[in-house]
Formats: sequence, C-alpha cells, structure tokens
Amino acid sequence: MTYDDGSYDASPDDRLVAPEAGSEEAALESALRPRTLDTFIGQQRVKDQLGLVLEAAVARGRAADHVLLAGPPGLGKTTLSMIIAAELGVPLRVTSGPALQHAGDLAAVLSSLVPGEVLFLDEIHRMSRAAEEMLYLAMEDFRVDVIVGKGPGATAIPLDLPPFTLVGATTRAGLLPGPLRDRFGFTAHMDFYDAADLERILVRSAALLDVPLDSDSAAEIASRSRGTPRVANRLLRRVRDYAQVRGEGHVDFAVAQAALALYEVDEIGLDRLDRAVLDALLRRFGGGPVGLSTLAVAVGEESETVETVCEPFLVRAGLLARTPRGRVATPAAWVHLGLVPPVGSAAAVQAAMLPFDAAGDDDASATGDEAGPQA
Ligand SMILES: Nc1ncnc2c1ncn2[C@@H]1O[C@H](COP(=O)(O)OP(=O)(O)OP(=O)(O)O)[C@@H](O)[C@H]1O
Ligand SMILES: [Mg+2]
Repeated sequence: MTYDDGSYDASPDDRLVAPEAGSEEAALESALRPRTLDTFIGQQRVKDQLGLVLEAAVARGRAADHVLLAGPPGLGKTTLSMIIAAELGVPLRVTSGPALQHAGDLAAVLSSLVPGEVLFLDEIHRMSRAAEEMLYLAMEDFRVDVIVGKGPGATAIPLDLPPFTLVGATTRAGLLPGPLRDRFGFTAHMDFYDAADLERILVRSAALLDVPLDSDSAAEIASRSRGTPRVANRLLRRVRDYAQVRGEGHVDFAVAQAALALYEVDEIGLDRLDRAVLDALLRRFGGGPVGLSTLAVAVGEESETVETVCEPFLVRAGLLARTPRGRVATPAAWVHLGLVPPVGSAAAVQAAMLPFDAAGDDDASATGDEAGPQA
C-alpha cells in the first residue's frame, strides 16, 4: 500500500503481484489447489516425469523415490507435494527447513512417520547443517543416529526408520549442497507458466469460486499475472470483488480491465512501484547506467526493496538489465512507458533496429519471453 508520505510498503500482503503468499492467503489458496496430477494444469514435462515415478512406485508397492521440487514462488510446489501423497495414497506430513534448527527436531519428525508416508520439507535450503547431515543418512538408509550425551561420553544410538518419501521444495536450488541434491531420485524444475496455461488455471479457479468469467477476461488477467498461478488467482479475486461491487457480478472484458486499472496492475503485470522504478530510470537517469542505491533514493525506497521486489521481474520481462556499471533500461522499457530514448543513446540506437511492430506494441516487445522456457 501507499502511505500519505508517499512511501510504499511492498509486503506480499499488500502487493497484488508479489509471487510470495500473503499471511492471510493460505486458506484462500487451499480451496483452489488441484488435488490430482490430471487436474494440475501446465508443467507438462514435470507432470509426465513425475507421473511415471509415482506410477512405478505404486506398482512396486514401495515408497517412491525422494523428489525435489525446484522453482520460483507461487508455481505450485506445495500443491504438487500434496498431489504426490494423494497419488501414492499415503498420508502427508508437512514441515519446513526453518522449523528444523536442531538435528533432534528432524529425528522427532522422522521417527514418527508411518511406512510409506510422504514428508514434505518446504524451504529445504533453510535447514540447519546438523539436520541436513542427519537427513543424508535418513534418505539413503532409512536410519538416523541419535546422539545421546555430550563430549567424550556421547554415544550414537542407531534408529531404524520406516521407508518414506521425502518431497523437498526450494526456491533456491543453487543453495543446496551437492550431496543433498544427489540424494533425490527425481528433481522437478518448475518453469513460469505461459499465458494459455494461466488462462486455463483462471477458468478453473473462476468455476470453483463461482464467478462467471469469459475467455477474453481470462486472457486479460493471464497476461498480467507474471507467469505465476498464485498471482493469477489473486488478480482473479480482486476482479471478482470489482464485478460484485461495481458490476453485475459477472466478469467481462471491460470489468477485468477496469478492475486491474484500479489496482494499478498494467498490461504486462507491472505494479505502481515497478513502473515508478522504470520511470525514474528512464526520465531522471536517461535510461542508466545508474547505481542501485541512487535509483532506490529516486523512488523513495530501500535499495533492498528495489532489488528484491521489483528487479527480478523487470529483468525477466526484458525491461531492465543489471550491468557492472549499474542498472540500464532496455529499448523495450522505453517502448513500454511510451517514452522516446534521448537521441544518440544506446537505447535509441537499439530501438531504431527493432522491427516495426515491436516498437509500436507493448505486448510483443515487453512480454515476449515472460513465460520463460516452455515445458
Ligand atoms: N498448475 C496449477 N494449476 C492450478 N492451480 C495452481 C497450479 N499451480 C499453482 N496453482 C495455484 O497457485 C497457488 C500457489 O501454489 P503453491 O502454493 O503450490 O505454490 P508454491 O510453489 O508452493 O509457492 P511457494 O514457493 O511460495 O511456497 C495455489 O493456490 C494453487 O492452487
Ligand atoms: Mg509452497
């Protein structure tokens, strides 16, 4: 939200396009989670591969291989972990890296699993070192060594565990130590969703929420959702509110556009702060290069906010580049804000080389790669 003094609180609770879940969002999200692999939309490659792993495990009547789900927030890792347990027909235990600060915390969880159970370990990259080492042995041999006592008198008591399937989730696969990564039988790399998949997700969610949504509106919301189902569902809830309060309850194209304009989410999913950063970069600094801290001061924000909240998507959307000399706007950024780069600037030269239609049409130039690599 924006305060009277113009400062901007970018916490996910307020920011419509944040990929992370807001604190009140859990219940809303769980109502929209697909429960089976068949109803999970998109990520076809991951679905095919995972489906095989699960089917083979069921056929063998054994616990499935450990699975690592890697990818940015809001793409469906938690959803998939629940689907894995459901498809295997076993219970699901949920814990997270930050909850396992001592090896004993992990030992307690592991020793209380029932045979075949799925243990979902969210944010696995944030587990303590001690827990991590215990996990190696547990994953490989279904055994832990519980250390009793301290110093020279300490003894390790081996404890057998029931076979289980670990499902780890991480937004930062690069931070996982090699030995841990190697112990997963299957790693699912999740990509951003393309517009067509987001549209299908929106149509499904709208049906669950009992909101009439036509296909033009679904396409419009999808194109502003940054390739992320969580954002798509959140925008849908706001559009629904608008339709109920200001419209007739059903969502048509005009309602979707008006609602998203009211919430300041533009055609490619930039919000007010994203646009403020771009605007400052272009108008005040001629497109850069400019240092991060200078740019942050220009929009009245902390450097960290600009860096972690705005930049990842601006970079992904091809609007901003991080260079050793500072932040630089791409030609697409000028086009997107409807500005003309100064004559002789690098952006002007590059813009002159853009094909005609790309220079005239925001969507083509700015969102071309938004959905990331195709599954
Ligand atoms: N493929 C999909 N089909 C339909 N809905 C989806 C899909 N993927 C995600 N969603 C919806 O998006 C929301 C967020 O998904 P989820 O919580 O699984 O993301 P996540 O990857 O675990 O995020 P985080 O990294 O923040 O934990 C959920 O409400 C879920 O219903
Ligand atoms: Mg999650």
